Amino acid sequence: MKETEVIESLTGVNARRKKSRIPAKLDFYQSATGLFLALFIFAHMFFEASILFGYNAMYDITKMFEGSFLFKESHPFIVSILAFVVFVIFILHALLAMRKFPINYRQYKTFKTNMYLINHDDTKLWFIQACTGFAMFFLGSIHLYTVMVQADKIGPFASSDRVVSDWFWPLYILLLFAVVLHAIIGVYRLCLKWGWFEGGDSKQTREKLKKFRNILTIFFLILGILTISTYIKIGITHKNHYGERYTPLSVTSTKIEQKVNK
Ligand code: HEM
Repeated sequence: MKETEVIESLTGVNARRKKSRIPAKLDFYQSATGLFLALFIFAHMFFEASILFGYNAMYDITKMFEGSFLFKESHPFIVSILAFVVFVIFILHALLAMRKFPINYRQYKTFKTNMYLINHDDTKLWFIQACTGFAMFFLGSIHLYTVMVQADKIGPFASSDRVVSDWFWPLYILLLFAVVLHAIIGVYRLCLKWGWFEGGDSKQTREKLKKFRNILTIFFLILGILTISTYIKIGITHKNHYGERYTPLSVTSTKIEQKVNK
């Protein structure tokens, strides 16, 4: 019996056997969930940065997510549902990505040796993505679970109280760096993998994408640092009033008017 026939009889695998499509499908789902999460994060950073424009700006955005444009009263459970959906996609993405992690020290050493031998920037980026992804397993899950179960405690004062008095600021600073690097490197690698924005000259396209990637990273890091600093500043001044909610003047005066008219 030939060696190939022995292998075939033992494993059932032969050269004629059709290749499985499952790895390609899993790769597609990983890209799709990753792209959704990255776009979500970019939007999230802008909405959250509304605090830079004052208490009322952030209050209005919060109420909009609680359905104020559809209903008379606000419904924080809408935010809980959104957080739940994002959490499910986040877990799915992590599960799909996990299959590419080195599973033992030998695989890890082989990867590291290859990384230094090849000395290619994009291989190093994969390593950064694996490390930031691992950190986000924990940091992202804590944040998502918190907003899911405390969706009624989002607002200029409630969020700042959480950041300072509930000690969420160290978690947010670490999460900010992890998520910005992970999302932007991820989108950059997706562009290369699927050939998006591919011009005639692939070297030139890669250079342009790299430039755009670096500008976006700096932009979102600065935006995130300014945002978290603002929540910290408000949280410190609001420390003695922990738990008190922000109410815009317009809402307070409407309530007074309603009481007077009764
Ligand atoms: C529907 C889901 C989400 C909601 C409703 C939400 C909401 C918020 C809110 C209101 C804050 C301000 C601080 C606070 O109130 O605690 C915040 C901060 C933050 N969130 Fe989320 N978030 C969601 C998902 C995510 C995800 C998936 C990530 C990344 C994995 C993320 C990363 C961050 C970071 C890094 C900050 C810190 C602030 C900064 O530096 O700009 N969030 N989020």
